[in-house]
Amino acid sequence: MSAPGRAGELSGKRVVLGVCGGIAAYKAVEICRRLADAGALVSPVLTRDAMRFVGELTFSALADEPARTSLFGPGSPEPSPHISLARRADAVLVAPATAHFLAGYVAGLAADLLIATLLATRAPVLVCPAMHTEMWEHPAVRDNVATLRRRGTWVMEPEEGRLAGGDRGKGRLPEPEAVVAELARLLASAEPVPGQGGGRAGADGAGLAHQGAAAQSLAGVKALVTAGGTREPVDPVRYIANRSSGKQGYAIAAELAARGAQVTLVTASESAPPVGMASVQRVATASEMAAAVHAAGDASDIVVMAAAVADYRVESPAGTKIKKSPGALVLTLVPTEDILAELGRRRRPGQVLVGFAAETASGDRLVTLGRAKLEAKGADLVVANDVGGAGAGFGQDLSSAVIVSRGQVRELGLVDKRALAAQLVDMAAQLLPARGRP
Ligand code: CTP
Repeated sequence: MSAPGRAGELSGKRVVLGVCGGIAAYKAVEICRRLADAGALVSPVLTRDAMRFVGELTFSALADEPARTSLFGPGSPEPSPHISLARRADAVLVAPATAHFLAGYVAGLAADLLIATLLATRAPVLVCPAMHTEMWEHPAVRDNVATLRRRGTWVMEPEEGRLAGGDRGKGRLPEPEAVVAELARLLASAEPVPGQGGGRAGADGAGLAHQGAAAQSLAGVKALVTAGGTREPVDPVRYIANRSSGKQGYAIAAELAARGAQVTLVTASESAPPVGMASVQRVATASEMAAAVHAAGDASDIVVMAAAVADYRVESPAGTKIKKSPGALVLTLVPTEDILAELGRRRRPGQVLVGFAAETASGDRLVTLGRAKLEAKGADLVVANDVGGAGAGFGQDLSSAVIVSRGQVRELGLVDKRALAAQLVDMAAQLLPARGRP
C-alpha cells in the first residue's frame, strides 16, 4: 500500500478529473470519490470513449458538479467550458490517459473538451497513462511521454500487473489511492515561480507559464542514476548475481526526469527502463558499470548509485562451460572497484552524491550503518535500507528506509519506492548549489 494522500493539500482545491476511454476508466470512479473525500472540488471531464466504459451519471453523483462530456451541445451548458474549467482549476488530473490522448495532447489537438481545457490551463497537470505493455513501450508513446515531461507535465509511471484481457505486464493504472497521493504530493511541492502568476517556465526554456513549479525545478540539471544488480560471469553460462530488481533506481530516475532533469540511466536490470530518459546504458558487470558511470560522472550534477554492485568478481572466469566433477569447486573471488567511493574521491565541487546501504538491520543500528557508509564513501546522502524485513526490499514495491545526510536523519519507515524517490530527490535538489534561477 502506498502512502495516503495528504488530504490537506487537496482540501478546497478545484481538480479537473479527465477520464479517457480505456478499461482502467472504472478506477477513475474511485479516484473521483477519493478526491472528493480529501476535500477536493472535482470537475469531471469524460471523453467520448470514456463513456463507453463508465457513465457520466456516476461521476456527477460523486463529484462537486455534473460531469462534462463535450465542448458543445447538451454535454456542455456553457459557451466556453474549456476556458472556465481551465481558469478555475488548481490542478488537472488525467486518469486513465490512453495512448490516443497522449498523442492528441502532445500535438495540441483541441478537438475535445479535455485537451482544449489542458491547452487553456495554467494549473499543474498530472497524467496517468494506462495501456497494454506493447503500446506503452512503443516509441511513439515513449516520445510523447518524454515530450510531455520536457514541457513540465507530471507523468505517473504505470505499474506492472494484470491488464485487460487477462494479460500481465507494465501498463496498469496505479491504485486510486496512489494516484490521489501523487496529486497531493505534486500540489504540495508545486510552489509558484515568482512573476509567473503561479505557473512556471517550460523545461525546454520555452517560457510556458504552465503547470506546477516542482516538475520544472530540475530543468537544466544533469543526473546520473544506476539501477539493478550486476552479474559477474563464472563461465559462459553462469554468473554470480544478487536480488536487486532495479525498481528503486528506476523510480528515482523517473522522478528526476519528471522534474525536468536530464537523466542518464546506467542499468544492470533486465526490466524495461522508465520513459523520459536522456540516455539509457545497459551493463552487466561491475566493471562495465564503473566504466559507464565514470564516463558520465564528471558532467553530472547529481549522481545516485542505487545499483547493487557486486563487491567481488570471479578472478578468472572460465572460457568454456565448467563441467561437473567430484569434490568441491573453488572459485577465487577478487574485489571489484567501489564505484561510489571512487566517485566520492574524484567528485567536483557542487556535485551531489547519493549512495544506498543495503543492510539487514533496523532502528538505530540502521542509522549507524548508514552514517558509516556516508563517511566511508564521501557521499552527501545515503539511503539505508533494511532489506531483511518481510514485504520490503529487493523486488518489492515497498522499502524500509532512512535517509542520512551530514546534518539530518529522515526516517521514512515502510515506504513505497516512488515516495522514497520523491523524498530523496527533494533532499538532493536542496543540496544543489543555486543555479541562478529567478
Ligand atoms: N557500491 C559501489 N560499488 C561497489 C559496491 C557498492 O558503488 N563495488 C555502492 C552501491 O551502489 C551503494 C553503496 O555503494 O550505493 C553501498 O553498497 P553496499 O553493498 O550496501 O555496501 P558496501 O560498500 O558493498 O559494503 P557492505 O557490502 O560490506 O555492507
